[in-house]
Amino acid sequence: MIINQNGIFHIQMEEYSYLFRIDPYGIVQHLHFGAPVRTEDAEGFFCHPGLGWGSCTVLDDADSGTCLDDKPLEWSGSGRGDYRESPIELSGRSTDFRFAGSRTYKGVAPFDCTLPQAKGDCETLEILLEQQGLRLKLIYSAFATALVRRTVLENTGSEPVSLNKLMSFSLDLHGDFRMTTFNGGWIAEMRRQDTPVGGSKVVNESLTGASSNRHNPGFLLWEEDATETSGRVYGFNLIYSGNHYAAAQQSLQGFTRVMQGINPSNFCRILQPGEQFETPEAVLCHSDAGFGDLSCRMHTFVNHHIVPEYWQGRPRPVKYNSWEGCMFDFSQRRLLDLADRAKKMGCELFVLDDGWFGQRNNDRAGLGDYAVNRKKLPEGMEGLADRIRAKGMEFGLWFEPESVNPDSDLYRAHPDWALTDEFTPVLGRHQLLLDLTKPEVRDYIVEKVSGLLDSAKISYVKWDMNRHSIALGAKAHDFVLGLYEVLGRIFGLRPRILLESCSSGGNRFDLGMLCFSPQVWCSDDTDPIERLTIQGNLSFLYPQSTFGAHVSAAPHAQTLRATPLATRGNVAFFGCLGYELDLKHLLPVEEKEVKAQIEFYKAHRSVFQYGEFSRTALGWQVSDGTTTIAGVFHTLVHAAPGYEKLRITGLNRDSVYSVTSLAQAIRVGQFGSLLKHVVPVNIDPNGALLRLADSRFTLKNAVEDLTASGAALHSGILLKPLFRGTGYDENQRTQGDFGSDIYIIVPKKQDFSEIK
Ligand code: DGJ
Repeated sequence: MIINQNGIFHIQMEEYSYLFRIDPYGIVQHLHFGAPVRTEDAEGFFCHPGLGWGSCTVLDDADSGTCLDDKPLEWSGSGRGDYRESPIELSGRSTDFRFAGSRTYKGVAPFDCTLPQAKGDCETLEILLEQQGLRLKLIYSAFATALVRRTVLENTGSEPVSLNKLMSFSLDLHGDFRMTTFNGGWIAEMRRQDTPVGGSKVVNESLTGASSNRHNPGFLLWEEDATETSGRVYGFNLIYSGNHYAAAQQSLQGFTRVMQGINPSNFCRILQPGEQFETPEAVLCHSDAGFGDLSCRMHTFVNHHIVPEYWQGRPRPVKYNSWEGCMFDFSQRRLLDLADRAKKMGCELFVLDDGWFGQRNNDRAGLGDYAVNRKKLPEGMEGLADRIRAKGMEFGLWFEPESVNPDSDLYRAHPDWALTDEFTPVLGRHQLLLDLTKPEVRDYIVEKVSGLLDSAKISYVKWDMNRHSIALGAKAHDFVLGLYEVLGRIFGLRPRILLESCSSGGNRFDLGMLCFSPQVWCSDDTDPIERLTIQGNLSFLYPQSTFGAHVSAAPHAQTLRATPLATRGNVAFFGCLGYELDLKHLLPVEEKEVKAQIEFYKAHRSVFQYGEFSRTALGWQVSDGTTTIAGVFHTLVHAAPGYEKLRITGLNRDSVYSVTSLAQAIRVGQFGSLLKHVVPVNIDPNGALLRLADSRFTLKNAVEDLTASGAALHSGILLKPLFRGTGYDENQRTQGDFGSDIYIIVPKKQDFSEIK
């Protein structure tokens, strides 16, 4: 509900309240963003200026309390006494916007441009601000678990206006905060960094043309005592896939100004009389119950209001992807053999990755030419798709439509279609970007991709993008608008195609792409231990339903680390499961294990993809309110390890639950020469006998099977012991480095007395 009472605006939701007021000068002053309160509480949030502060520039010389610099504002300008960072910059002009009106309505405020936006049940408030020749709208759309803000600037004057910066929102929050950002690079996405926000500005920004793997646009602000289950935490994100900017800085008076929007670096847009500029939407979320609750609110928002409607809550198929297994080296025969194996394992979707068109036999050539390579695929895409589908799987295809190799027919025919500057072109992965600001380029992409999608039965697309942009400022923004137009034209007409976006892995994991693609390939790093960081940190901002998570071969291509197959599965379960390795090289014991993994995942798919997610002391937990599944993950083990306590949250304390663990095979080969302690013969640790045994036989790992009350599980149950260097035992978890376990907790029909 949106309340407008005596100059106080109150966005009053069950989960949060957002209040501001219009002061006697028409300035919009922020009052409260946090736990739900009453409108009558507004006065308690007023900032009383008293006699003001020393060294102030005042709006009204007769009133020393009219200094903008020391007030919590909902929007700020420049040249009028607020010397903090301004969310708007016009070349060489002051800005001083004052209140001119408001309106509220049901639903969202649709964009005039191609920017994607949050959709679904909401109420919208528009605050109209004006100054000579300019009109600024602050737009607030109130969704159940998050508030969405954006701004629109219109030139109502008679002269052109040069706009250098326009943030989606600005907000002054009282308090001492830390800012969590997620930084990294290729195969190293989402590394968490916590920075105290004081008088020096903390900035989170991308300048690569994409939202980037260097600095994800999502970030958190939190008070120092916040934990997973308690404390005040804010989450922010931008529904945008280009250069972004966010800043937080605390004033002397204790207000932290936070803002987010398109990166103003090199940005300049000339607004002709009558023209307007719309910023992307920013998402603002609050919890006073810690990081866990904040994440759940963000997850609910993404699952219900960001991903395309058709895919909201829809189960995602278990896929096989050809990339790590084949790279560019495949034939139809090899693919069909892999498809047979994938089907046997239980996969539901077969995805052909890079290498199927033009001269694309390595990454130096062919991008841009989408004619199917008939040498590799003699029956064309239709033939391959039909054959895969005849085996009982869906078929999916990889594209990288935004890029072009200079060694391609497309580039030779249209060198001017590439995005270049006045210097010799600089290449990234031997490729250039196409200039998506040109309508003919957009038409070409739409025509090529749509043509292929309609020529064969393709139910999934992996949309890749593997280089950074050189486009600056407003052109970089227009590129992103062009991309959104293309995606809308192709997939708006084909909503049932499951689109997975990818950009060298997680180089474009953002809410803008998620408006088109329900899932994103998290990272080219498929090592599960690395994925604990990547998926774990993504979980602060994005739900598991959006994570493309695959099991790959070990040792892993990215780290040279060898990890157990069980852990590769156990980590990938907490996302949209897939397999990305040469299935031909699986040993019989591994085939059996993969089959069991997929069967287990399918039985619990909705809990993994859509269950409420928590980060726990030992790993992760998901729950759909009935079934709870906990993952316990180890990195490097220590000798003589202590007991571990598994704590489960969210259960009914009076109910009785069964706790079982997922059976896990322990490979014989992992023991090497240690086998001499358990078998009477002295087996050669490097010999054929051990290799044979390793491919066919496994040992049992400890299995949990007990009954416990919700209260006991809440306080924690002791898990079976880990290997202690004293021998093998079936009741011991004999996993070694990078081991893991999955526990399934379901309510029992009877209570304890009946069980006895
Ligand atoms: C980068 C992606 O992240 C990989 O998964 C794969 O699709 C390659 N591109 C193909 O070139």
